[in-house]
Amino acid sequence: MAEQMTDDVADALGGLDSQQTISAEIARIAQTYDAASGEELQPRRDYPPYRSSLLRHPTKALQQADPEGVELWSPCFGERDVDPLEADLTIQRGGEPIGERTVVTGRVLDGAGRPVRRQLVEVWQANAGGRYIHQRDQHPAPLDPHFTGMGRCLTDDDGVYRFTTIKPGPYPWRNHHNAWRPAHIHFSVFGTDFTQRLVTQMYFPGDPLLALDPIYQSILDPSARQRLVATYDHDLTRHEWSTGYRWDIVLTGARRTPLGADTEETS
Ligand SMILES: [Fe+2]
Repeated sequence: MAEQMTDDVADALGGLDSQQTISAEIARIAQTYDAASGEELQPRRDYPPYRSSLLRHPTKALQQADPEGVELWSPCFGERDVDPLEADLTIQRGGEPIGERTVVTGRVLDGAGRPVRRQLVEVWQANAGGRYIHQRDQHPAPLDPHFTGMGRCLTDDDGVYRFTTIKPGPYPWRNHHNAWRPAHIHFSVFGTDFTQRLVTQMYFPGDPLLALDPIYQSILDPSARQRLVATYDHDLTRHEWSTGYRWDIVLTGARRTPLGADTEETS
């Protein structure tokens, strides 16, 4: 009977499952995970509540690359190509973007806690209304003519990166009916060799959508996924100007920052 009702609800929602169904699946999988084991510090590749992961997760063991061989032909970038102004996403388009101006900063560290210096850090994000400048993002929220949502910078001698941006809004996606991604900023960090490249998402503290989000929840270890959530820092917040968040990125070791789940460009 319960099965039948679930099917009826799914039919009424155009074939998409409800948040209730997804949340029940998330809870069921979480119950099977032993948090004391500390085993699953990365997103699960086949995580049924994240529907598209079922079809596109790798079914064979990953090919291990020789890091030194990769270094011979992998692309690299020049430090001189990065303009310091690219770290300010609020000044790129000749006018002020709409939304909560905020500073996001932190350190890029190796597994021993040492700063990773002069590393390229790239970010991309939705605008305050939750909309990307991307052809595949057509949901009815306004584009902001003064905001591209892209920035980059190099870490300094202490491994510190710093961006000034607009706090992104949550946005809908088609994983299930009434699915909303929590506000997040995508980060890419190259690390000290090409095989350390880390692509992930930073979230904001206290977001009620985190509990409902199958991408965030696909990292089964609670303390590992918590490492993707920034900390609000009132000392970073500036009088009558901007709020501030702090978020460190650890490239290697036991406290490594988890990867973002393998998301599509606009997820
Ligand atoms: Fe996204």
